[in-house]
Amino acid sequence: MSGVNEIRSTFLNFFAANGHEIVPSSPLVPRNDPTLMFTNAGMVQFKNVFTGVEKRPYNRATTSQKCVRAGGKHNDLDNVGYTARHHTFFEMLGNFSFGDYFKENAIELAWKLVTKEFGLPKDKLTATVYIDDDEAFGLWKKIAGLPESRIIRIAGSDNFWQMGDTGPCGPCSEIFYDHGDKIWGGPPGSPEADGDRFIEIWNLVFMQYEQLEGGVRNPLPKPSIDTGAGLERVAAVLQGKHDNYDIDLFVALIRAIADLTNADPQGPQKASLRVIADHLRASSFLISDGVLPSNEGRGYVLRRIMRRAMRHAQLLGAREPLMHKLVGTLSREMGQAYPELIRAEALIKETLRLEETRFRKTLERGLAILDEKSASLTKGDMFDGDVAFTLYDTYGFPLDLTQDALKSRGISVDQASFTDAMDRQRAKARAAWAGSGEAATEAVWFPLREKLGATEFLGYETETAEGAVTALVKDGAEVDSLKAGESGVIVLNQTPFYGESGGQVGDTGVMTGDGVRVRITDTQKKAGDLFAHIATVEQGTLKLGTALQLDVDHGRRSAIRANHSATHILHEALRQVLGDHIAQRGSLVSPDRLRFDFVHPKPITPEELARVEDIANDVVLENAEVTTRLMGLDDAREAGARALFGEKYGDEVRVVSMGNAARELGSNAQGSNTLGWSVELCGGTHVKRTGDIGLIAVTSESAVASGVRRIEALTARGARNYASHNLSLAKAAAAELRTTVEDVPARINELLEERKKLERELSDARKKLAMGAVSGTKGPEYELINDVKVIAKELHNIKPNELRGIADDYKKQLGSGVVILTTSSDDGKAGLVVAVTPDLTSSNNAVQLLQAGVTLLGGTKGGGRAEFAQGGGNNPAGTKNAINAIKHSVQPSLTAKSE
Ligand code: ALA
Repeated sequence: MSGVNEIRSTFLNFFAANGHEIVPSSPLVPRNDPTLMFTNAGMVQFKNVFTGVEKRPYNRATTSQKCVRAGGKHNDLDNVGYTARHHTFFEMLGNFSFGDYFKENAIELAWKLVTKEFGLPKDKLTATVYIDDDEAFGLWKKIAGLPESRIIRIAGSDNFWQMGDTGPCGPCSEIFYDHGDKIWGGPPGSPEADGDRFIEIWNLVFMQYEQLEGGVRNPLPKPSIDTGAGLERVAAVLQGKHDNYDIDLFVALIRAIADLTNADPQGPQKASLRVIADHLRASSFLISDGVLPSNEGRGYVLRRIMRRAMRHAQLLGAREPLMHKLVGTLSREMGQAYPELIRAEALIKETLRLEETRFRKTLERGLAILDEKSASLTKGDMFDGDVAFTLYDTYGFPLDLTQDALKSRGISVDQASFTDAMDRQRAKARAAWAGSGEAATEAVWFPLREKLGATEFLGYETETAEGAVTALVKDGAEVDSLKAGESGVIVLNQTPFYGESGGQVGDTGVMTGDGVRVRITDTQKKAGDLFAHIATVEQGTLKLGTALQLDVDHGRRSAIRANHSATHILHEALRQVLGDHIAQRGSLVSPDRLRFDFVHPKPITPEELARVEDIANDVVLENAEVTTRLMGLDDAREAGARALFGEKYGDEVRVVSMGNAARELGSNAQGSNTLGWSVELCGGTHVKRTGDIGLIAVTSESAVASGVRRIEALTARGARNYASHNLSLAKAAAAELRTTVEDVPARINELLEERKKLERELSDARKKLAMGAVSGTKGPEYELINDVKVIAKELHNIKPNELRGIADDYKKQLGSGVVILTTSSDDGKAGLVVAVTPDLTSSNNAVQLLQAGVTLLGGTKGGGRAEFAQGGGNNPAGTKNAINAIKHSVQPSLTAKSE
């Protein structure tokens, strides 16, 4: 049997051939168990299947599960590097029966695989059973033919496996391999059992019970099987090694480290090489599962692991960041089995490089302090906890790193005074908050944040998870429970719900558990990174501490993701079409639309907008991967990442890039942008590939403030609905016009032209009709009032502009005189014009004449110039009176008088 990869697939294929479903490893961040820091066994993802809560389409499964044992209940971190079998990261091979086969089959399958497939000699194998498990004892005798002396009964926790304080559990039976008498140690249960000669290679758990809180143990619905074999141990045995670090996978990693540092893998620096190899695996797999270094929770455990490795890199004399250079080797060794490693390679490399660059800045000074303060100490002494705290606080030395550095000299750290110093600093920080205005308005959140720490956000990786209720808030105060019908705010230790920020709205969804059902209508962030789920309890009573199944509304979140990624693409497309001055001013990313505000001095032309839309949709069609990296702010800027002006960013930023970097880059091409076509600092959630956006449709362009424009757009279904709605409108229009969609514009144009022509003709006809009524062949009939020629006429249904034309014609025909025209329309309106030839305006002002009549039409005003005035009102019955009143006001011509 050869390499690790072959052993893994032999195991999985063997069980597949025996009716087991090969199920992929679940992520290292347990989504179905809020009490666990990291997935630490193969059965974690099947917890609810064992208890019967969850149904799967198979009842036999096999996995190779990624596990991390650091920071939680099982913490192997401190030992790694100094022993033959401790790891922070390892793979657990397992087979599972969910109420299908039980002890007999499990032992049969295990024995067959170990002796036939793996070919291990029977006389090297020993089995243990739980003290009173006569059945298993008998089965080992029957199936394996092991002598009774090599079936060892063990009492206590060693042979009773329990997932945690609660959860599925049962007696177990373990298979041991005897490495031979060259190595010190005795069989399990013997006084020398602690030695290294007999090594456990496989644990078969006969799952029979579920451990509940308060000591109650219930039988499972059906007896089940859970097994776990550490791949690294199995590989060591099969490769004839005693030490896990001597298997092919570790040899390759350690060789890569040795090549870069010139350290001798078997020399005095052996432990450092092993620490780096192990921690590289843990760090890379954690990062690929969405954990990023931070000062809290899982992120802090990752940081501790990374920094411990980085200190060992420094011990090996590495002058530059080392870890990121090893990621390629790791991908080659493990990427086939875990493709997520390859997908996240860029993120892993940059996260490691950034962390190591920053850590190295303080490492030397910190180590100098550590040396100085420990110089006078000797074996068995205690290192000052206050100094350890300063190293932690100022130099970023996690406590275990300081402990590790002193370990080889036999010096321990005064942990009590370290904790005291930590508490003092927290109290100081609390006091500082109490004075701020924000604390006064949102008084409840800051103490909660202090007490609970940040909420772990799982929503980049998943939309469903389990979380434990760590606080409930109602009307601004903490409460212990929320009853059915009550609304309040839920805080959890971890959540896949996105808290509103960066323009992206908060998630909605449901949370369920233990007879409780809660509707989440919004999610907000409080005190920086505490996620507040705005909730209404629909059923049951929600209590503190309850574990809930958390389900984000999937359809809504998918739409939000598409809209957020489309916002980035439109931003870059706008910049390419309009220029480099485009700067984001704000955005709204909701499930049904997106809005993007930006600096631009003038309206965008339809042609520009069409180009923006075309470019954006080309990027969508390109279907390139959307990648996320954690980077230093300066590096991100250098890489051309777009950021919001005036926004405060931390030293570490999340960089989202999409589109093919080799695409025409527009002005973004300046600089060394190799990360993607669009590169932005962003904490939001995004599609996996640009194709997931489907389609982008810009629906409007408008002004929001001087120099700030806004575009609104739709994506995916919304964009399709928009497009198909518009198309059906066009089709309806074409049908009305009895033509094709293509010909609609031409047809409309034609109709408009025709209409203009008809209007002209109609107007002429009306005029003719009106004039014909008053003028004969001998010229117009007029009367003389005070020697002034006056034409007065009541007309019907003549439009105001036509009335004016008629008055002008009369004026021309009269040569000198006054024209008074009224029109009454069928809809109850009356119009009036008075026109005066220029020679008469000094005695007869058209505006004044109009005033004399317009009130009789029910109007109050009218206006114009001395030669022409126009008005009207709502009393068509008054036209005759109006004309008479104006006639009475006509004055003799001044010129006539002087003659
Ligand atoms: N769940 C068992 C273990 O972790 C197989 O050892």
